[in-house]
Amino acid sequence: MLSDPNAVREIFQADPDLLHSGEANALFTATVGRSSVLVLDGAPHMRQRRTLVPPLKGERMRAFLDAMRLETLEALSSWPVGTPFPTLPTMRRVTLRVILRTGLGLQPGSELDRFERKIETFLSHGRQRYALVLMTIVPIERLAGSRWVPLFRQLSDLDDDLFALISARRRGERNVTSQNVLDDLLAAKHEDGAPLADREVRDALITILIAGHETTALALAWALSEIAQHPDVVDRLSDELVRVTGGGPLAAEHLPALEYLDGAIRESLRLRPVVPFVVRKTMQPISITGREYPAGVVLCPCSYLVHQREELYPHAGEFRPERFLERKYGPHEWFPFGGGNRICLGMPFALYEMKVLIATLLSQVRPTRPTGACSKARRYGIVLGPDDGGRIVVQRTRADI
Ligand code: HEM
Repeated sequence: MLSDPNAVREIFQADPDLLHSGEANALFTATVGRSSVLVLDGAPHMRQRRTLVPPLKGERMRAFLDAMRLETLEALSSWPVGTPFPTLPTMRRVTLRVILRTGLGLQPGSELDRFERKIETFLSHGRQRYALVLMTIVPIERLAGSRWVPLFRQLSDLDDDLFALISARRRGERNVTSQNVLDDLLAAKHEDGAPLADREVRDALITILIAGHETTALALAWALSEIAQHPDVVDRLSDELVRVTGGGPLAAEHLPALEYLDGAIRESLRLRPVVPFVVRKTMQPISITGREYPAGVVLCPCSYLVHQREELYPHAGEFRPERFLERKYGPHEWFPFGGGNRICLGMPFALYEMKVLIATLLSQVRPTRPTGACSKARRYGIVLGPDDGGRIVVQRTRADI
């Protein structure tokens, strides 16, 4: 477990052929599939990664703003006023519906609701506290595809729907209005000019659902509870929002000006990283900051530990969004999304979504924390989130919800 930023920099800059990540993730193959970026290394990893970069690029996010904002407003309308409640269920629902709308291009309606139900049931297995332990001890590769195991029965059911959707889109049947990842993947070509096979498209879609949904929901639950805990931060965020939007609906051009909100999100990901470390397996002996490691060990650049270093983050235990306005941090100093050739492909998507969701929420309600609330980190499958689901209390500030 590495906590020295210089060691982290060397690892992120090392030759990817010397440090493999896909191999360390092999136990996910049964769910994400053999062509998923998560489980590949070397040239095959780069080949698949290249196809996912364009649809998840920062500039593409503008097309996703309305889906994010409208889903948030819809979810917010059922929040109780003046009574403590956990935000995690809302964050899960909104982020799942957003990824279904922007990833698959589904419109609100029965098809989206059906996918939502199926994916929610399937993903709920991976959230169990001991999911990772079970995946390690159970011969999951041999059980893959078995209809006796609920996880694989549900996955194969979901796959049927995904393959049917892929075929329908290939035939040109569309009920979509905006840009979406599925259409981009169907139009994409590998470097040799070959289009993606159905299986590659399916693996890419399942990968972004698995890698992107629970992570973003937990990061949002943490961020909102940290913000709510600090009334001075809520004041500053609300002032910034009114100054930038003039009190009107949030638009894409407002987002770059919401700098303090950006700092609050980065600070929350610093203090409460949902993926506290990443993994790299050494393929050959390697020297990192002068220390020799043999082949076959797993080195873990640990964001949780680096993010606690006092010389980088004075008063590291405190939530201080302004530190990100006062100083720029390097990719080896702040890395909740990992780094190097494996840096999270959904980072622009997640940061954009977090910004839109929190800005939309703060335009409607004022959050506080219930008296005495104190969230501790607990494991949800392989990621960390607040053990109380991020409990807050809200008061309405706008009458139109
Ligand atoms: C706050 C939310 C998120 C966090 C904290 C997060 C964090 C991470 C981390 C730490 C990694 C491993 C990076 C490494 O090994 O260096 C990763 C990989 C990945 N993430 Fe995310 N992620 C988030 C959201 C998303 C979203 C929304 C998507 C897709 C829409 C996504 C897609 C991926 C993919 C495809 C990879 C594998 C990249 C590769 O191996 O080349 N993530 N993520």
